Amino acid sequence: MSSPLTRENAAATSKPAKARLAPGPDGLPFMGVLPEFMLNPTRLLVRSAAMSPDVVRLKFGPFDSYLVIEPELVKRVLQDNIQNYCRGRIYERFKIFFGVGLLTLEGETWLYHRRVTQPQFHMEHLNTLIETMAGCTSDLLDRWHLKERDKQSIDLEEEMLRLSLRILLKSFLSTDIADPAYKELRPYLKAVVEKTTRHMWFAPLVDLIPKNVPLPSTRSSQQVQAALRKWCYGMIQEHRRENAPDDDYIALLLNARDKQTGEPLTDYQVYDEIRTLILAGYETVGSGAAWALYALSQHPDVRRRLEDELEKVLGGRAPRVEDLPNLPYLQMVVNESLRLYPPIWAYPRDAINEDMLGEYRVPAGSMVLLSPYVTHHSPAVWENPEAFDPERFNPENTALRSRFAFYPFGGGQRQCIGSRYALMQMQVVIAMVVQQFHLHLQPGHPVEFSTLNTLHPKDGIKMTLHKK
Ligand code: HEM
Repeated sequence: MSSPLTRENAAATSKPAKARLAPGPDGLPFMGVLPEFMLNPTRLLVRSAAMSPDVVRLKFGPFDSYLVIEPELVKRVLQDNIQNYCRGRIYERFKIFFGVGLLTLEGETWLYHRRVTQPQFHMEHLNTLIETMAGCTSDLLDRWHLKERDKQSIDLEEEMLRLSLRILLKSFLSTDIADPAYKELRPYLKAVVEKTTRHMWFAPLVDLIPKNVPLPSTRSSQQVQAALRKWCYGMIQEHRRENAPDDDYIALLLNARDKQTGEPLTDYQVYDEIRTLILAGYETVGSGAAWALYALSQHPDVRRRLEDELEKVLGGRAPRVEDLPNLPYLQMVVNESLRLYPPIWAYPRDAINEDMLGEYRVPAGSMVLLSPYVTHHSPAVWENPEAFDPERFNPENTALRSRFAFYPFGGGQRQCIGSRYALMQMQVVIAMVVQQFHLHLQPGHPVEFSTLNTLHPKDGIKMTLHKK
């Protein structure tokens, strides 16, 4: 059993007489570590983190950026000194794909949009969604029974992505997605994510190119965007018809009125919030659930203990809201999986003014990188970090740890709005799958990380199904 380590003395704020810059790898002339980052970012970040458990300096081309690892320093960036850290250049690039919505907005407009959308994420509302989650999962399992009968294998990641998209669209946008529509939509969403990633991490370099020079990737992304826009506008029009749903995400956005001006949001603003919801909410939960089921397939001892808990509490049926507090081990398994495989593995901020992070100086204007992946895998924070051990999340061990040792959903006021929805969905899906199937990784199938927007398996996760 693992016990957490704490590093309480790390958060320093006062500037010593001779403040140093953090250590970091040299990288190549001009390009710095950018080529290695593009090739295998998590490997680079973990390798660099070995140079200092607190902060490391990374040269992205001509720009210095600072990877913040130590939990109390992460807290300083996300919470205690949040006014010094804005979304910055990379999130600016994000707007090409996510639009100007909750994820990319700042200041008063962000607060207004967060207040408008928040009711959809209140616990009372989320509790009404559990039946949708269970219903969609039950349909998936029916399909798996046929596949098992026909001895067909599955790509677990694809299955979980499709399921999470269906649940998201039904839960928030009152739209069900039949197979043909999914087949049409999925490549768009995939392309958007791939293009976002390329734009995002190359942003500092791309920004050196004059804005009026058309980049090929911008042109092709416009085509992808057009298809997504058409589909989202179709949903907005549907919601303007008589008898349209009046209590979902789109209705909430369409009915919002600015307190001072009385103005509604424009259709474009509504569209931006819809695509933000879809792009931020489906691949994250889908890959999160896939990684958790993969981890269980690799750890039969953990799976057996989970099966016992599920058998006692559910006895084969789908979970209801009132069951969730009675399934603590399930929650621990989900957390441990989000620790080892945090779907949002890194995200940036820009430092507005100079700051001190621990003993290191962060100059004004630098990019600051937060990586749940690196903090979650840091041996200075976690004992034996590569081991899959849900006991880390029992109440005693959790109480000993910094809140920011584990932060798959971020923290502070910009914490993920969908975190409780995501956790609930992962619990429901995993509980139902584990009660009906054993999943076995196809022999010889490589499971390697790829880091698009989310941490996901490069070649999928090929599994064979075994009915329990
Ligand atoms: C396992 C699943 C998920 C993970 C790991 C995750 C992770 C994150 C993280 C780390 C952030 C903070 C980014 C930052 O501060 O720069 C974030 C923000 C956000 N997430 Fe999630 N997320 C998940 C699921 C969802 C879902 C299901 C939704 C919507 C239904 C969602 C919508 C959002 C939105 C709108 C924001 C921006 C919030 C704001 O700034 O006000 N996420 N998410």
